[in-house]
Amino acid sequence: MRITLSAAVTADGYLDDNSSERLIVSTPEDWTEVRRLRAEHDAILVGAETLRRDDPALLIRDESRRASRRAQGLRPDIAKVVVTRSGNRLSPAMRFFTEGDAERYVFSETPIPALEGAAEVIIADEPITAAWIVTELEKRGIESLFVEGGAQILRLFLNEGEADTLRLAVNPSLRIGAERGGAAFEFTPPANTPVVREFPGGMQVATYRLRKAEFSEAEDLKFLRQAIEASRRCTPSTTSYSVGAVIVARDGSIFTGYTHETSPTHHAEQEAIAKALAAGAALRGATIYSSMEPCSTRKSEPESCSALIVRLGFARAVFALYEPDCFVRCRGALNMRLAGLDVRCYPALAEEVRAVNGHLWR
Ligand SMILES: NC(=O)c1ccc[n+]([C@@H]2O[C@H](COP(=O)([O-])OP(=O)(O)OC[C@H]3O[C@@H](n4cnc5c(N)ncnc54)[C@H](OP(=O)(O)O)[C@@H]3O)[C@@H](O)[C@H]2O)c1
Repeated sequence: MRITLSAAVTADGYLDDNSSERLIVSTPEDWTEVRRLRAEHDAILVGAETLRRDDPALLIRDESRRASRRAQGLRPDIAKVVVTRSGNRLSPAMRFFTEGDAERYVFSETPIPALEGAAEVIIADEPITAAWIVTELEKRGIESLFVEGGAQILRLFLNEGEADTLRLAVNPSLRIGAERGGAAFEFTPPANTPVVREFPGGMQVATYRLRKAEFSEAEDLKFLRQAIEASRRCTPSTTSYSVGAVIVARDGSIFTGYTHETSPTHHAEQEAIAKALAAGAALRGATIYSSMEPCSTRKSEPESCSALIVRLGFARAVFALYEPDCFVRCRGALNMRLAGLDVRCYPALAEEVRAVNGHLWR
């Protein structure tokens, strides 16, 4: 998923003041740009405190963008997402729930009966992480996410490295002081972080590129297609998926494998990894492409593929289809994200993977 974080702060680092009125930090030119960026994503996410304090509607206002989304068969507004631990003081009367035409998701650690019918409430069975939110949204078809704050939520995504870009807009002529300050947000970029600077309407905007690992989408799609090609060599089985895998090692060497290629208990990732290890390839920092999400539970082998990928120090894992819940409930992508890997799903190729596994759905 492509993830953009966005925040506008005062010259002294506040997202808001402590009054009941919403503080306008952006200049009109900057706000126009934020709205344009928002519309380039599938979903917008905020923390529960932002809903309670500001009651934002989080809509796409540009009529031409709404029309173009409708023409593509999409709902005119992008999906809205809110994150809460407690569910406290979230009401279905909030504009988040009542305005616009969009899917609405609430990520919560507690059931919130009041929101039934107003949104899909997704309850966590462990403390909420950005990795889990990203994984659950991807499973619902969201491919790009705009995280608009507040400070706690921005920190949640930054601390886990779940961000491709941070757009930080500073209003140099607005200073409110600690006595009046509300939520504060500071960001110190890691050394050598690429940054683009702009000045819309007098704002000082820095757009930082924060990807965990460099990659190109075109390369990802090329190797993912190779993984799908490898999966076509599998003998269809009613007890396992037909999966293909490709490893691109740091030195550019490539290894492929497919389910049961050399052993009736081997998954595609294991087959490719075994070849790479036999060739003495350095897998630390490598990328593994798998047509389907690497597994997280094994009965016939001591270690799952996602655990093996983490243990060997792969930097990236890329796949096309989340493992369906046919055999077990897979959390391979989530486990790898939590371990710090850059995990990318390309659902554009998911149909091909489903077709290769057509024998299982019939
Ligand atoms: N200038 C800007 O660009 C901008 C943009 C957005 C917001 N804001 C401002 O930011 C302020 C709010 O910022 P904030 O930092 O106080 O709050 P926030 O980030 O909007 O929301 C914090 C809330 O999110 C939930 N939350 C946070 N981390 C969580 C986790 N790991 N798991 C589950 N839930 C979690 C908790 O909800 P519960 O308490 O419900 O459990 C927490 O109280 C508002 O004043 C708003 O105006 C400014």
